[in-house]
Amino acid sequence: MKVGIVGAGMVGSAAGYALALTGAASRIVLVDRSEALALAQAQDIAHAVPFASAVAVEAGGYEALAGADVVILAAGVGQKPGESRLALLERNAAVFEDVIAAVLRAAVDPILLVATNPVDVMTHVTAKLAGLAPGRVFGSGTILDTARFRSLVAHHLGLAPQSIHGYVLGEHGDSEVLGWSGARVGSEPLASVAAQLGCAITADVRARIDDGVRRAAYRIIEGKGATNYGIGAGLARIVQAIGRDEGAVMSLSLVTPELAGVQNVALSLPRVVGAQGIRSTLMPTLDADEIAALTASARMLRDTSDALGL
Ligand code: LAC
Repeated sequence: MKVGIVGAGMVGSAAGYALALTGAASRIVLVDRSEALALAQAQDIAHAVPFASAVAVEAGGYEALAGADVVILAAGVGQKPGESRLALLERNAAVFEDVIAAVLRAAVDPILLVATNPVDVMTHVTAKLAGLAPGRVFGSGTILDTARFRSLVAHHLGLAPQSIHGYVLGEHGDSEVLGWSGARVGSEPLASVAAQLGCAITADVRARIDDGVRRAAYRIIEGKGATNYGIGAGLARIVQAIGRDEGAVMSLSLVTPELAGVQNVALSLPRVVGAQGIRSTLMPTLDADEIAALTASARMLRDTSDALGL
């Protein structure tokens, strides 16, 4: 499968590296407004290939995206320390005006996977600019927040993150909603397993895990200026699910016609991912507090989208 990556910075290059190591793509093309950066990243990632799988890694102009099955959009500016994801919107929406047109001049009917923040509204911007079938334009959304949630719960219980099932929903950002009430360990409710293991999920534990998920990116950006490995691996996992036509369920951002009375808003819900992109959405069972929080998140994103005329 050929995957294009537009934006060879911290996130785009980490996605390319993860794609190469996992073998989720057979060809990877990096495009950046700095041709030198795209070429250097491609060469560096290509040097990892002999230790991994047979993947062709190259850099080029937008024309090199011809034949791409998936194009990851990671172009634009990232958060500065303390800066919210939403603060990036105007700058990055302006960048996408040209980027999406250039991508679609080269790639015919690709799946567009948006990583640029604020990823939910940027997904909406991309869907409007691209005019592709709805399931073919979506964002990484809260896939990384869900991973952070599962990892922190797993650590508290002394279990593997892969055995924790639950989702972070809504905005990939400050208003995101941790789906505690639906969280499971294997097939058992989280609270039941926590009690069995003597690791009760107290109010303090919930608050600590919530903060650890919600503020993770801010803390990492304070320390190293950006986040990239977590999102890079998440993007590679999404591409893998597309390439294998898995039917995998992931919390991803998609323009959603209606949610809790809010119309036409891009946010994360559990989505089924296959060869054609997002096949369907699975509505989660939430408690009253979670419904209220998800509604507030959707309303905030809708208001933000209004400002761009989406
Ligand atoms: C983060 C970026 C991808 O949450 O928004 O690390």
